[in-house]
Amino acid sequence: MKTEERYDLGKLVTYKPNKRLPIYNWFRFKEAFSPNFVKLMLSQFDLHEGTWVLDPFCGVGTTLLASKERGVNAVGIDAHPVCSFVSKVKTRDYHLETLKESKRDVFSRRFEKLDLKGIDPLLRKAFSSYALEDVLFFKSEIGKIKDLVVRDFFVLALVVSAMRVSYAVKDGAVIRFFKKKHPPLRKVFRTTVKKFIRHLRKAEFKPCEIVVKQGDARRLDFLETESFDSVVTSPPYLNKLEYTRAFDVEEVLLKELIGIDSTKAYLGADRERGQGVFPKLDLPPIAKAYFSDMELCLREMYRVLREGGKAALVVGQGVFPDGIVESDVLTAKLAESVGFNAEKRIVVNKRVATRERTVKIGVALESILLLAK
Ligand SMILES: C[S@@+](CC[C@H](N)C(=O)[O-])C[C@H]1O[C@@H](n2cnc3c(N)ncnc32)[C@H](O)[C@@H]1O
Repeated sequence: MKTEERYDLGKLVTYKPNKRLPIYNWFRFKEAFSPNFVKLMLSQFDLHEGTWVLDPFCGVGTTLLASKERGVNAVGIDAHPVCSFVSKVKTRDYHLETLKESKRDVFSRRFEKLDLKGIDPLLRKAFSSYALEDVLFFKSEIGKIKDLVVRDFFVLALVVSAMRVSYAVKDGAVIRFFKKKHPPLRKVFRTTVKKFIRHLRKAEFKPCEIVVKQGDARRLDFLETESFDSVVTSPPYLNKLEYTRAFDVEEVLLKELIGIDSTKAYLGADRERGQGVFPKLDLPPIAKAYFSDMELCLREMYRVLREGGKAALVVGQGVFPDGIVESDVLTAKLAESVGFNAEKRIVVNKRVATRERTVKIGVALESILLLAK
């Protein structure tokens, strides 16, 4: 496999550029990549209107939204209920007049205090009682919306607004709680809804089909064999497998507001698995389980791609106390073992990795793997 260094592309595989991009910035997700990375890959793979792209780890829908800008059809799968919900809401087609009418309705009634009895303890920790009372009041207002697409739009805006006034602070996979003064939730919610509608009004999408499903990338039996022209994705990073714990408050909020399926299927979760992959390598058990799961995911990607189809995977190397695990190189090896031709590894970022904050372990790379069927 050829290796190329392109540190000029480093920023494109991070969330940073999305912070200022309408719709892309509706939900902050540090693990996301940017639409310009996706568009670069769509161009490189010559994907035009009418073709199909798959993102089996779609996160908050960057691949799907960028494809929608290009008129490329896309399917996105994510195991996390919050991610799949966010992806759905960001990529749907809306009738703006209906959203505006619903906005008038939702904000027209006078506040009514509802009983907080029976509310989830995590929500009590994460919010002031004023904020929670507002959440419950708006839950009942949003509940009156009959059109589920419109209802979900308001639910996402409410969750995002609630997080703005919440006591929760994310610290990697851990959530800490700090009480603080906050503006009234109804004010933040109204501003957020207005902003979301403004973003939609300015968006330039081309007609195409976008499908989002909560599911497991290891088992894509609902997708037809050889039905995609390309895969553009980024699997969870080896030593950041539990980062989705950081969305526990959003998840409980969503459960409270609309009820969601919380089944999760994290790669590497079953540590007993994977003793057979890379038998000669002395990998930590979680890494073995992870690669054994990755093999299943790659098999599925290979199956659903058409002959000649291409895949781009953004992969970060794993940092462990005993050293760096070269996940990009190992993923490429697995890809070849299931039939792919690993055409190129483009190294886009390198970071010094330390143990106990000071002891240098090595340099961890982040790469784009280009694969072909
Ligand atoms: C690196 S993030 C992808 C971010 C995405 N590229 C974006 O721009 O938002 C990896 C995603 O994989 C999801 N995931 C983890 N295990 C999964 C599985 N077994 N099947 C599908 N998705 C999974 C996580 O929930 C996470 O959203």
